[in-house]
Amino acid sequence: MEKRTSLQGFWSSRLAFILAVTGSAVGLGNIWKFPYIMGENGGGAFMLLYLVFVFLIGLPAMMAEILIGRRGRRNPVTTLEIVGEEESGHKRWRVIGILGVSAGVLILSYYSVVAGWALAYIFKAAQGLFTAASADVVGELFNSHTGNWKASLGWHTVFMLMTIMVVARGVERGLEQAVRILMPALLLMLLVLLVYSVKNGDFSAAVNYMFAPNFSDLTLNGALVALGHALFTLSLGMGAVMAYGAYLPEDSNIGTTAVAVVIADTAIALLAGLVIFPVVFGQGLDAAAGPGLIFQSLPLAFGSMKGGVVFGTIFFLLLSFAAWTSAIGLIEPAVAWMNESFGFKRPVATFVIGGLVWAVGLLSVFSFNLLSHITTPFGTLFKTVDFFTSNIMLPLGAFAITGFAGWVMCRNSTSDELKMGTGLRYNLWRICVRYIAPIAIVFIFINKLGLL
Ligand code: PHE
Repeated sequence: MEKRTSLQGFWSSRLAFILAVTGSAVGLGNIWKFPYIMGENGGGAFMLLYLVFVFLIGLPAMMAEILIGRRGRRNPVTTLEIVGEEESGHKRWRVIGILGVSAGVLILSYYSVVAGWALAYIFKAAQGLFTAASADVVGELFNSHTGNWKASLGWHTVFMLMTIMVVARGVERGLEQAVRILMPALLLMLLVLLVYSVKNGDFSAAVNYMFAPNFSDLTLNGALVALGHALFTLSLGMGAVMAYGAYLPEDSNIGTTAVAVVIADTAIALLAGLVIFPVVFGQGLDAAAGPGLIFQSLPLAFGSMKGGVVFGTIFFLLLSFAAWTSAIGLIEPAVAWMNESFGFKRPVATFVIGGLVWAVGLLSVFSFNLLSHITTPFGTLFKTVDFFTSNIMLPLGAFAITGFAGWVMCRNSTSDELKMGTGLRYNLWRICVRYIAPIAIVFIFINKLGLL
């Protein structure tokens, strides 16, 4: 088979690819979402299940996405269409790509709103607004920020412009440049904050909470949330990693690359927990405070600690950087698709998709103010988009993608692309994508729907 070449250029090295995928993986999911959903679902037991899903489903699924992406060398929709046709004679597999592109647009629409809060909080922290503030004052600050649609909308707009600016510049000059600067900065900030947290917070309470499982706290819904989050945090099930895989040089080893990304993402999620929970417990705050956890508890905690202005500012800067490198991954599949299949120049495609995401994001902006009265069984519009994408679209996407790699693609194609022979490791991977991942996903779904 003649090898195709990417139309968007390539990562300059395997390291650049690892940085980019890790940048996409490490985001609001690790720092904002993981701590609060762990808090809502019972701490240690949830964490354990999450780790099992990350390694049993996330890792093989990540390898599957990279290999499919590199084989197709196009945006996820076209990639699934051509690889699907080569393997099975059908182009219809492209629907999986369309599902993924849509999930990316929908996720980014609310993601950008939260990222906008993070941007706004950099300035609030730097101005010392949290210093010696009471819980009521900090809570009020959060509610009045999200409740003020103009402020929320303004920051959402700024964040989308930042994302567009990077993505419009293309793979090497935009995406790669951004992660080369932002990822080391992110790691440095995290380590600085960790030292601060260990010194100023209740570290042993945090470790206990995170690592001592209490299984009676775990519900079936918790299991679905853990699965959804394992996929969300690794940017899986929507084609982000597949799109990035299309730009991976031919000779890079996919298995070791995926292992590196999964370990880095998990380590950063745990580190973020070890930064946040000591501060939360040190101040006697509630770990199950929901989406406002880091925007309400942390400012309160920072506000009453020495050096809180500096470290609070660093924290929200960290959060914004993390969100930025993830937003790039969320939008890339749609941008590449418009560019490759509809002939839009890359910058134009980025503006069009960015504008679309911005517009859909209005629903999330307004769900805290003008439209707060509109609810679905999952809560406000904001919560509904989050629930629908993380807990339905991503598991469905991951089911389809692992199934595609395991059942539609033949052994020769996948082992050829993975370049790890056909020994034990390859077979383990294949068992995971053929059986374990799809069956686990279906099982959790069926359970959740109450059919079992
Ligand atoms: N992984 C990102 C996070 O944890 C979110 C994301 C999902 C990014 C899907 C890209 C694609 O915040």
